[in-house]
Amino acid sequence: MKHPQTLIAGILALAVTAAGASAAVAAPADPRAVDRSPALASRSLAALAEPIGLEIGVAVAADQLGADRKYTKLVAGQFSTVTPENAMKWESVEPQQGVFDWAAGDALVASAEANGQLVRGHTLVWHSQLPDWLSPDGVSSDFSPEELREILREHVITQVTHYKGDIWHWDVVNEALNEDGTPRVSVWSEAYRALGLDPLGYIADAFRWAHEADPEAKLYYNDYNLEFTGPKSNAAHALAQDLLADGVPIDGMGFQGHLSTQYGFPDLEANLDRFADLGLEVALTEVDVRTAVAPRKNHEGEWTSTPATAEGFAAQREYWVGTLEACLAVPACVSYTVWGLADSNSWIPGVFPGEGAALLWDDHLNAKPQLADLREVLATSDAAPRVR
Ligand code: XIL
Repeated sequence: MKHPQTLIAGILALAVTAAGASAAVAAPADPRAVDRSPALASRSLAALAEPIGLEIGVAVAADQLGADRKYTKLVAGQFSTVTPENAMKWESVEPQQGVFDWAAGDALVASAEANGQLVRGHTLVWHSQLPDWLSPDGVSSDFSPEELREILREHVITQVTHYKGDIWHWDVVNEALNEDGTPRVSVWSEAYRALGLDPLGYIADAFRWAHEADPEAKLYYNDYNLEFTGPKSNAAHALAQDLLADGVPIDGMGFQGHLSTQYGFPDLEANLDRFADLGLEVALTEVDVRTAVAPRKNHEGEWTSTPATAEGFAAQREYWVGTLEACLAVPACVSYTVWGLADSNSWIPGVFPGEGAALLWDDHLNAKPQLADLREVLATSDAAPRVR
């Protein structure tokens, strides 16, 4: 992988060259200079990634799509895949037991179809954003373990059947592991444990049910912090090996890619590689890069979307470039999705107070330098065609 610093150095050198430019100045030393032209800026991320066979995606907020013109246009124009940010989660699709609401998910699928985009379905089995009737906290439930297993089976089959033929990738199971690699305690792990089964046994079941309902959809396990080598990534790797050895229909591993500049850049390429070596596809499914942001004037726990320091901003640009370059370096990395379009749509400020500015467009839906950086990476890439 090319070191991200190379590109940033190039960008800085170019800025200096441009500032001092006069008619007599020869072509800038950095060949990437040519790529900072308006022509490149007018090309979409999806179009630039197309020759490599890489899909570029975005998580879409149901209440913005169709309501905000600029947002809708950017989603349609820049990306080749979309992921529902919340619309296909359990609390959205089955708010009351047996009462399904597919409206928001269906609207996204229809919009994707109209725009020639693929859909990454997200997500079938998770401990979070469950409806209250099922589990108020992701762990406890009024249902018996037997009932929970049946509820899970019905949910997976009902949802995958509803969207049969519409979904490219399903994030079948989301976030089943703890940081130390042990199974996360959830309503699912505890039901299986109580049944005398492997607490992670629901994962194999869910993949099998999903495959039964839509044999064409590619089925993914999705989690965060798999980017860094460590107990969690190791456990996910062991889990994937076990699933494959048992003949479970798993096609890929989703690396969420929620990065913060305070933790350093992960050894992402090595981790993508070792899952690819198992014969799986890999994908970056929820990329955002947060950094410390400046407080608002008359600060009362309120934050802007402006990086607090120039170093933080520069690190964000390096991380964006680094994530995309890592994906490009691994031919099994078939898609790269950003978790929201603009800073004004991002989940980060609500969950990580004091951090933000994590996306490629700003609060007013203006493109940020990070976006130009990604365009340049794609335009100058000699990456191998994707292997699917
Ligand atoms: C987040 C959404 O962005 C928020 O709007 C919602 O309130 C909470 O969930 N990992 C995931 C995503 O897999 O589904 C989460 O999305 C972010 C973390």
